[in-house]
Amino acid sequence: MPGDKANLLITGSNGLIGTTLSQALGSLFNVSGFDVTDPPAESTVPTTVADGSDLDAIMPAFKGIDAVVHLAANAPVETPWPDVLKNNIATTHNVYEAARQNGVKRLVFASSNHAVGLFENDEPYKSIVAGNYSGLEPGGFTRVDNAVPVRPDSDYGISKVFGEATGRYYSERFGLEVACLRIGTVNPINSPVQSVRHMATWLSHRDMVQLVEKCLTEPLKFEIFYGISNNTWRFWDIEHGAKVIGYAPEDDAENWRDQLES
Ligand SMILES: NC(=O)c1ccc[n+]([C@@H]2O[C@H](COP(=O)([O-])OP(=O)(O)OC[C@H]3O[C@@H](n4cnc5c(N)ncnc54)[C@H](O)[C@@H]3O)[C@@H](O)[C@H]2O)c1
Repeated sequence: MPGDKANLLITGSNGLIGTTLSQALGSLFNVSGFDVTDPPAESTVPTTVADGSDLDAIMPAFKGIDAVVHLAANAPVETPWPDVLKNNIATTHNVYEAARQNGVKRLVFASSNHAVGLFENDEPYKSIVAGNYSGLEPGGFTRVDNAVPVRPDSDYGISKVFGEATGRYYSERFGLEVACLRIGTVNPINSPVQSVRHMATWLSHRDMVQLVEKCLTEPLKFEIFYGISNNTWRFWDIEHGAKVIGYAPEDDAENWRDQLES
């Protein structure tokens, strides 16, 4: 690849987050992608079309790669187990293994809030996601941080716990630098107006780009960060990301409350 910029591979590069990151990170990295689908005709990102569950098929995409952002997966929380197993679990293991075999230095894994989703059965999180703030002050309660036990809420959530555990293993055993992002809600409309839960869980596109960029450029070994904006009613911790990599989100879902649809 041209120039002296590092070579960044984005898996799932045709998806919502992959497309946004490919465009935003092009000035810092030589970006390439792989996805099981053909890239859109207008895409300028060199893309390997391969199924992540086939290790041999994805290996060429990792040649000469310095860093990986691993997004490829079925993203809906309701994804049935056979698809979770193939597209989330097997694909994620293959991506870590291809990274190891090709000497990749750093990998950013798109984990999810669903790795700890059952905290939303507990108060005050249960009330906050329902939009009931009575008797509560923003931040006047213990936020869910990177050190809590995992509490997946679905087979999808289990696959994200698997990806974090695999990242820990490849980091400690092989020296791969790994950042796992428990992403909240990133949506195409880039606003939290579709659900009151998003008042707590929203991650704006620009905050997402900043967070991933810092995960790629700041010193780290193995970390778990929450991927949310600086939402007034957030119940996940962003202080750890601020401390370790200087994450400084610019957006707050609260600024959209008067446009909330439900
Ligand atoms: N959008 C969110 O709010 C959110 C929240 C938490 C976590 N995440 C995670 O972030 C990642 C990206 O999410 P997104 O919203 O961009 O999803 P998306 O569905 O828009 O993109 C996922 C991409 O992965 C590709 N893919 C799926 N299976 C594949 C396979 N076997 N091999 C190769 N490519 C495959 C798809 O073709 C698609 O282009 C996912 O891992 C998702 O679980 C997203």
